[in-house]
This record gives sequence, structure tokens and C-alpha cells, in this order.
Amino acid sequence: MKQQHFDLVVIGAGAAGMMCAATAGQRGRRVLLLDHATRLAEKIRISGGGRCNFTNRRVGAEHYLSRNPHFVRSALSRYTARDFIELIERHGISYHERDWGQLFCDDSAQQIIDMLRAECEDGSVQWRMPTTVQSIERIEDAAARFVVHTEHGPVSCQSLVIATGGLSIPKIGASPFGYRIAEQFGLPVVPPRPALVPLTLSPETLARLAPLAGASFDVEASCRGPAFREAALITHRGLSGPSILQASSYWQAQAYEADDWAPVSLNLLPGISAEGWLMEHAGERGLLANLLSQRLPRRFAHAWCELHGFEKPVNQFRHAELRQIAALLEAWPITPSGTQGYAKAEVTLGGVDTHQLSSKTMEARQVPGLYFVGEVMDVTGHLGGYNFQWAWSSGYAAGLHA
Ligand code: FDA
Repeated sequence: MKQQHFDLVVIGAGAAGMMCAATAGQRGRRVLLLDHATRLAEKIRISGGGRCNFTNRRVGAEHYLSRNPHFVRSALSRYTARDFIELIERHGISYHERDWGQLFCDDSAQQIIDMLRAECEDGSVQWRMPTTVQSIERIEDAAARFVVHTEHGPVSCQSLVIATGGLSIPKIGASPFGYRIAEQFGLPVVPPRPALVPLTLSPETLARLAPLAGASFDVEASCRGPAFREAALITHRGLSGPSILQASSYWQAQAYEADDWAPVSLNLLPGISAEGWLMEHAGERGLLANLLSQRLPRRFAHAWCELHGFEKPVNQFRHAELRQIAALLEAWPITPSGTQGYAKAEVTLGGVDTHQLSSKTMEARQVPGLYFVGEVMDVTGHLGGYNFQWAWSSGYAAGLHA
């Protein structure tokens, strides 16, 4: 079979891969975009409940977890949330802002896919999907540095971009391909773990809480990191909801840093002093659970008091006991038994170690011409549009240089 040649081959036609291909194509590079999936950019399609939370107005390095925390700064400042907003405005896509600066499409995530596709067409990007990549070979040739062997024959290229994402949601095409390629070229991979993921609880805790499945309430959740004030949700298997997903990334990150795992801590009365509030009501004759029901879902307040043996009227607790209860309300430690895994995780923590990559171009320092973009790298954003912004910014950075 005749071998075709391209300036650039991008493997993975998701958010980062399409952004990179479009940017390089519009610079006049001859680009081929490959993906093994039958449907284009499924993760964008299902994101943000079908409306794609495509970026956030408050993008900054503090919203990312990585072993190399400053790595993201350069790319995020060269291609900002504002740049992406201008792109979608140019394509006439209407959007709205929700809490914490999160931006969503008004209509459908499909508009983002169509826009990226149109941008690729503007750059005359060629597509090959579904295509399985069998192997990658590095060659020493004046015109080419890599040969990509696919089920439809080999293609050679000067630059190769790996944009195959993380491991979450394997049923829509996630694969460890990018990590294998990194290893093939001697780049370390920070062991991947599911993140932004619902947490599971031990059978004993679950026995008390599972009957409350569906109950949702405002908390501040944290775990050796920032506190996230958003909803928590009790599920049949444990805890979910935005605040829990956020804290789950930090709970999982401890695997790299700590011998003693800190629990996830929930402040059940965010925004007030629990002690001050309990003391104000110290003389009340009603059950503590009834008092807590003023600020928590009633069934949850009762189950929580039962779980801790606090089943008395408020005025029968000594002040020292009320202070202990207040401390527990402000930092209720939950020790998860695990997570719901990649099937339910929004993203993957860990990935290709960024210490080996240029933060300006995403190129591997030791392997000229090899680039990694998007979630395949050890960069994991908070919930709220930060992961897509990383895909846009890193894809753009590589697209300008590859
Ligand atoms: P992405 O996963 O998008 O693309 C990788 C591509 O590589 C896929 O097309 C895949 O088929 C292809 N591929 C994989 N292995 C391959 C192989 N061996 N050969 C060829 N191709 C291969 N983020 C956010 O900011 N806002 C949001 O609203 C959401 N919502 C959301 C919902 C859900 C349910 C999930 C699972 C995730 C999100 N995210 C999100 C996270 C976001 O989707 C994610 O971070 C980006 O899609 C990452 O972009 P990438 O291009 O790096 O990978």
C-alpha cells in the first residue's frame, strides 16, 4: 500500500485533537486527524448534560491538579477562555453563564463539535475515522520522523500529536493508547486514577444513608485541598454531586503524596458558625434532629443524628457536647471505600508526566516532533469547564508549533 505523507498526524479527534488539527491546518500545515471511534467527539456531545460547559470565566492554574502545577500557566495565558468565547461567538453559538463562572451552550453541545469540524475544514484537515492505529515507528529521514501504521496502511509525518484523552468512560472510546506511546518513547506516566468521580461508602455507613438516596444538600467539601461549596447528593452506592466530585480528585490525588489518607471532610452548615448557631438554640426542648432540619433535609438530619447517637432534645446536651457536635457538623469526616471508577468518572487524574514536555509547545523534550495535548497529560481540571479549556489551550499551543 502506498505510504502517504503529512506534516502533522493527530491521533484522537476529541476536543484537544480537533483544536490542534484546526490550528495547524490554518497555518498551512498538511494535517491528518485519526480516531478509532465511529462517532466524532462523543465526550463533547455528552458533556455538561448535553450543553457542554465549554470553559469558565475564572480560568487559572489554581483550578488544575498536576505533579507539575505551574506547567499549565503558559498555554492557558496564550489561549484564554476569552479566545474560545470569541471563537464560539464568531460561529454564532449562543451561551449562558451559570454559578462560579461556568459557560454552557444555550442549545446543544453538538454546536461545539460542528464548530470544531468547520474550523478543521478551514484548515483543509484530512480525516480518517474509524481507524485503528497499530503501531508507531520513529524513523530518521529528511522529510519524516514518524510512521503511523494503521489498519488502512502506513502514513508518515514530520510531527505527531497524541490527543487520545484519559480513561474515563471506556464504552465511548477511551483507551490507554497515549500512555503506551509515552512509554514507548521513554516518557514517564503518572499512574492514572479516576477523578471527578462519585465516591462509594462502606456497607455500615451505607446501611444508614442509602435509604436517603436522592437527598441533596449544600455542603462545603474538601480533602487536603481547597473547599468546594456546592451540592452533595446521597446515592445508592455512596455520595455524588458537584462538591463530592470536586473533592474526589483530591482524595484520589493522595495516592501520589500521602501515606495516611485523609478522609473527605464535609461542612454540613457552610456559611455559618455551627457552634454559634447551636448555642443560640441550646435551650430548646425539641430534638436536635428537628433543629438541624431547619438547615438540612429532614430525613438526612434524623439519619445523621441516629448515626452518631445524638437522639436527644437539644437542651439535654451539655455545652461541651454541643461544641463537639458543632465541630462534627463543620468537618464531618467521610472515609470512602472507593470510587465508582472510570465508568462514572468525568476525567482521569495522572497521565503523561509534564516535566518531560515543553509548557510552551507541548513537545516532548527528548523526542523532537512528538507532542501530547489534552487529558492524556498529567493535568486535571476542576469541575466547571476547566478540562475543556485545557484541551483548547494545549491543543492550540501544539497546533502553533507542530
Ligand atoms: P477526548 O476524550 O475528548 O478525546 C480523545 C479522543 O481520542 C476520542 O475521540 C477517542 O475516541 C480517541 N482515542 C482514544 N484512544 C484512541 C486510539 N487508541 N486510537 C485512536 N483514537 C483514540 N469537561 C469540561 O470542561 N466541561 C464539561 O461540561 C465536561 N463534561 C463532561 C461530561 C462527561 C460525562 C465526561 C466523561 C467528561 C466531561 N468533561 C467535561 C471532561 C472533558 O470531556 C475532557 O476533559 C475532554 O474531552 C478531554 O479532551 P481530549 O481531547 O483530551 O480527550
